[in-house]
Amino acid sequence: MTTNSAYQQQYRQASTAPEAFWAAQAATLAWYKKPSQILTRQDEHHYQWFADGELNSCYLALDVHLAQGRGEQTALIYDSAVTGKKQRFSYAQLQHEVALFAGVLKANGVGKGDRVVLYMPMIPQAVIAMLAVARLGAVHSVVFGGFSAHELALRIDDACPQLIVSASCGIEINRVIAYKPLLDEALEKASHKVPCCVIYQREQLIASMQHGRDLDWQQQLATATSADCVPVLATDPLYILYTSGTTGKPKGVVRDNGGHAVALKYSMQAIYNCKPGDVFFAASDVGWVVGHSYIVYAPLFAGCTTVLYEGKPVFTPDAGAFWRICAEYQVKVLFAAPTAFRAIRKEDPDALLQQYDLSKLSYIFMAGERLDPATFHWVQDKIGKPVIDHWWQTETGWAISANPAGVELLPAKAGSATVPVPGFVLDILDDSGVPVAANQQGYIALKMPLPPGCLTTIWGNDERFVDGYLRTFEGYYASGDGGYLDEDGYLFVMGRTDDVINVAGHRLSTGEMEQIVAAHPAVAECCVIGIEDLIKGQQPLALVLLKNGAQISEHALEAELTALVRQQIGALACFKKAIIVPRLPKTRSGKILRKLLRQIAAGQSYLVPSTIDDPACLAEITALMARRQLIKIGF
Ligand code: COA
Ligand code: AMP
Repeated sequence: MTTNSAYQQQYRQASTAPEAFWAAQAATLAWYKKPSQILTRQDEHHYQWFADGELNSCYLALDVHLAQGRGEQTALIYDSAVTGKKQRFSYAQLQHEVALFAGVLKANGVGKGDRVVLYMPMIPQAVIAMLAVARLGAVHSVVFGGFSAHELALRIDDACPQLIVSASCGIEINRVIAYKPLLDEALEKASHKVPCCVIYQREQLIASMQHGRDLDWQQQLATATSADCVPVLATDPLYILYTSGTTGKPKGVVRDNGGHAVALKYSMQAIYNCKPGDVFFAASDVGWVVGHSYIVYAPLFAGCTTVLYEGKPVFTPDAGAFWRICAEYQVKVLFAAPTAFRAIRKEDPDALLQQYDLSKLSYIFMAGERLDPATFHWVQDKIGKPVIDHWWQTETGWAISANPAGVELLPAKAGSATVPVPGFVLDILDDSGVPVAANQQGYIALKMPLPPGCLTTIWGNDERFVDGYLRTFEGYYASGDGGYLDEDGYLFVMGRTDDVINVAGHRLSTGEMEQIVAAHPAVAECCVIGIEDLIKGQQPLALVLLKNGAQISEHALEAELTALVRQQIGALACFKKAIIVPRLPKTRSGKILRKLLRQIAAGQSYLVPSTIDDPACLAEITALMARRQLIKIGF
């Protein structure tokens, strides 16, 4: 890459004159009121983008395309591999459905600024509900369908919604998962009382309704009147999306309307090289940030066709599922998590791929966890298209580092998420916040102010936003990830530096699991760490110290803890392993040495810290882990 490459030029423009750069990007949107203020500093930790601009995100996703003559183009393709149903919505049809459902919400008291929680499977009604909430200037908070009633209740109590939208069931491969009983249980548990729920009844399971509270989606639509877009300020919240932190309480990441629209529209061109009419397939879930940004908003802002896929990469019905979708709908960009490709590779090293015409597929993007070099090479060799690892977080809402295919496709390096995206300025810092040299690992920190589209605060807890992200390194946002920049400026993200783990592309808090494990009557003390999993990247492992006199076998304890975590967090935690240990390694001040445990499980050499209280316990724990084959012996 020369210092004057197209990427370098754009990167320099965005970092040296951010206001001019983002003002130009903002000018491509249809605002109700164009912003005259581009970047406003409120105080040392808070900035606003486009503060006096007015817009509506649903208008930008749908109505604007009708106004520009794109009404008949397909906006959304729904493909359910678990029910066999396929459905296409043109921009005009989707706008009609969304406006009608917005009418239902409005008639039931939802207005500007109100929160609406969505607990939905991957059906078009999930997208319709999100956009309908945005249409009213209200704030959606989507809770991933795999979360338990307990997790849903936590989010209800934090977001305090005016209304909840849900469906009767989800479908996991061939199992019908009843959602409504989980919703009922969550509402029972939550202290915040929700006056109204709108339930979409799927034909696979009809849910029982609570009179006076629950309304039937289909019946409500029959008598609904369309609602129009409500202008909001660029700084008004569009959504809250909860993500795992280091404590048991999830954090509600708040995204604004204006910065989000500007950043996502820019990303569709600069990162994904997409133009109106291109087909974009993000194989994620609307419950995650990837689903928010790249199943729903970004492809629609850009006038593309988005694919909503209800199914898995394997078993629905086979490991050719993604390739079928790409061929059938002429997908240009496929975006999925590396874990999905590891699962495909395991089931089908090559056979099914040959059956599909992937000539329209231009790029495969991956995110959600580190793309290990073996998977990178396998996908690139098999498909023969650029494979792009890009790094981002719920907090940023779009990629911090990527190969900017629409600006300039740079040569890829296996294991690297390529280069910082224009707008993000990052440094690798040591413990004291000093930038380190090339190829040295450290904390990845992003210079403030962050570009448009990133979180503005944590819902109801701005202190957590400031303390958790902005106070660690003065003038930076601390990403929580560690890694290094090589001599060419390529970023290698190596993993979390905190107690967050990543299981099958799902971000989970070990702290939260520890709370659940510690509550078991036989457990005196515990520690949960992430250990390697060949398909899912990581899986949780609990190391448990029993109470004096507790009589329970490791096998029985493991089964009981598995059930507890499943019930409290959900099956997606994939918590299945616990070992009983006689002691836990601690510093003399009593802090558990988690990093040391992670190093043992990873089969890495480690230095025994001088502060350790009882070094002999390390050999015991290593032997116990080895007995259960929990130590990594090569990938
Ligand atoms: N509703 C209810 N349950 C759900 C669920 C949902 N939306 N999603 C997952 N679950 C359940 C699963 O049924 C499974 O339950 P089980 O333990 O009873 O079998 C459990 O949660 C774990 O699910 P999952 O992680 O999907 O594991 P899997 O073994 O069924 O599939 C993969 C493995 C790799 C195919 C799958 O994890 C996958 O596709 N991962 C990609 C995830 C992704 O796209 N992340 C993107 C984030 S950007
Ligand atoms: P989430 O907020 O759920 O999107 O998870 C964000 C976390 O996933 C990041 O902090 C990283 O730890 C991890 N992650 C996401 N994308 C990548 C990537 N491309 N490479 C390495 N880690 C990633």
